Amino acid sequence: MNASFESKLSADLEALKKAGTYKHLRHLTTPMSAEVHMEEAGDVIVLSSNNYLGLSDQPEVIEAGKRGLDTYGAGTASVRFICGTFDVHRTLEERIASFLGTQAALTYVSCWNANTGLFPTICEDGSAIVSDELNHASIIDGCRLATKARRERYKHGNMADLEEKLKAVQGCSPILIVTDGVFSMEGDLAKLPEIVALAKKYNAVTVVDDSHGTGVMGKTGRGTIEHYGLTGQIDIITGTLGKALGGAAGGFVAGSRALIDTLIQKSRPQLFSNALPATVACSALAALDYLDAHPELVVRLRENVAYFRAGLRALGYKPLEGESAIVPIIVGETAFAIAMSDKLLKRGVFVTGFGFPVVPEGTARIRVQMSAKLTREEMDRALAAFKAVGEEAGLIA
Ligand SMILES: Cc1ncc(COP(=O)(O)O)c(C=O)c1O
Repeated sequence: MNASFESKLSADLEALKKAGTYKHLRHLTTPMSAEVHMEEAGDVIVLSSNNYLGLSDQPEVIEAGKRGLDTYGAGTASVRFICGTFDVHRTLEERIASFLGTQAALTYVSCWNANTGLFPTICEDGSAIVSDELNHASIIDGCRLATKARRERYKHGNMADLEEKLKAVQGCSPILIVTDGVFSMEGDLAKLPEIVALAKKYNAVTVVDDSHGTGVMGKTGRGTIEHYGLTGQIDIITGTLGKALGGAAGGFVAGSRALIDTLIQKSRPQLFSNALPATVACSALAALDYLDAHPELVVRLRENVAYFRAGLRALGYKPLEGESAIVPIIVGETAFAIAMSDKLLKRGVFVTGFGFPVVPEGTARIRVQMSAKLTREEMDRALAAFKAVGEEAGLIA
């Protein structure tokens, strides 16, 4: 063990602890649901999971995973193009494509992998990427890996700035405009109709990561693109299976057949890493089936968001406005946000405080995420905890 390296790591960790920004992992002993048992805090209401539709412990989703294990065993012990593709991968990919209205789709072990596999593959010399400044870290890292592309960032949701950046990269080809569908820390939506119009004007390719929109937005939960009535008008969609669609893991890219074939040929995570486990593919398929058979889940989620937002406002909180299932409450400094989430946990509510560097300095927040699974009684209990902790911290009168 290198002593000076170890002591540097320890000093950095000590500094995080002193600053009150050290993250503690919480250990759950029951499946993700509206309430879970946590080793450190007992039974708690969950307001910080992406389990938007409550499908993580849905019996049909669990059973499908078990059947997958029986049918396919643990895995293929290979990357996909060698001998690592099961028929269920094809079935799931066809299902994702038809769900989103694209020609084809390709799964990855995570959306992180999908985003970092996508951009370097399709951005050769002469290309450009124009990216919203608040895009998810996996998009940022994916763009960083696209070393041959010219890279520009536009101000969050600012269409005038996007247009300026598009003018600046004219002559590049292809030009990609990339955005989250639902922004994970703000909970707001990308202005997709304007983005599509600008893409047409400047001959750009649109890329939308709808990880937080899938299962949440749109009448049937098909996401932000459905919400805006733009199905078929976005060139490339990326997303996760690790949130509303079962919550295990997995991601995908959906788009044209030629795009998907290109990724199969050249995308490095496809070429050098194993496939999505078949058990997870089976669970995700069951989650998609369940969502299609139960559109009322999306309605219930929306009702829960409205109920909880109204409850917070009645207490005196001013959550950021938005239509998604993410309800952020800005509290200021990182240490304050973390301390507040600790106090909420002591009162039986599991909700995470986020600070710098995840969000800009001074805008630390408690990020509430709603689930269709939560009952009124659970939401009322959570609101009572927010009342007590908010008053104690001087956030509300
Ligand atoms: C917008 C967005 N994209 C990608 C990801 C990564 O998803 P996964 O967990 O499948 O890697 C996340 C996860 O937080 C996300 O919020």
